Amino acid sequence: MEQDNQNQKAKNNLLKKDHLVDLKYKAQLLFPTCIHIFEYENFESVKDELVQHVYEEKDRDPKGRILSNRGGWQSRDFVKDDKIFSLIEKIFCELPILNKGISFSLDCWFNINKKGSYNTKHVHPTSDFSGVFWLKTSMNCGNIVFESPHNFSSFIEIQSYTDKFKNDTGCTGGYFFNPIEGKMLIFPSSLEHEVQPNESDEDRISVSFNIKLLAEL
Ligand SMILES: [Fe+2]
Repeated sequence: MEQDNQNQKAKNNLLKKDHLVDLKYKAQLLFPTCIHIFEYENFESVKDELVQHVYEEKDRDPKGRILSNRGGWQSRDFVKDDKIFSLIEKIFCELPILNKGISFSLDCWFNINKKGSYNTKHVHPTSDFSGVFWLKTSMNCGNIVFESPHNFSSFIEIQSYTDKFKNDTGCTGGYFFNPIEGKMLIFPSSLEHEVQPNESDEDRISVSFNIKLLAEL
């Protein structure tokens, strides 16, 4: 058996060294997972007002609710006339990649992750798109980590790729984004994600949301 393994290794090395075939290699990526990324222009000018708004909501309902959050505070879904609700609604309406006339319902909630708190891995069932809008962040306050929907079915395949190929193509088992103030991500609700523990001394504040499409497609 050991001899067989050595023979196979020698054969593989020979193939690698001699480049017996001109492969004219290229990869075509199909069926991607789309993460839509936005940045709120001049976020600094509205940040304090929005952060204050979230703390006021927490004062109104200090208990909040517990879903994927561990140790932090999460609000209940907030009401339609909220200024952040309107902002998210406007951004989604104006997304240039969506067919015109799509109607949708939107649910939003606030998150305050104090030091040590985090969100366990989860999906957002019954929604189509989900997202996060970061209002207050600092170094090491907790990355959002997405797990590839192919991580189970294609685990060995993914592991066989070089780091360069993984980086160039996004064919990885997982991928993280640093939270940045004024930045927003919109992603498929079925995509598994978690938020790492906040290791900073500052609160990490974000707005999360679910979008359910209602239009006939
Ligand atoms: Fe989430």
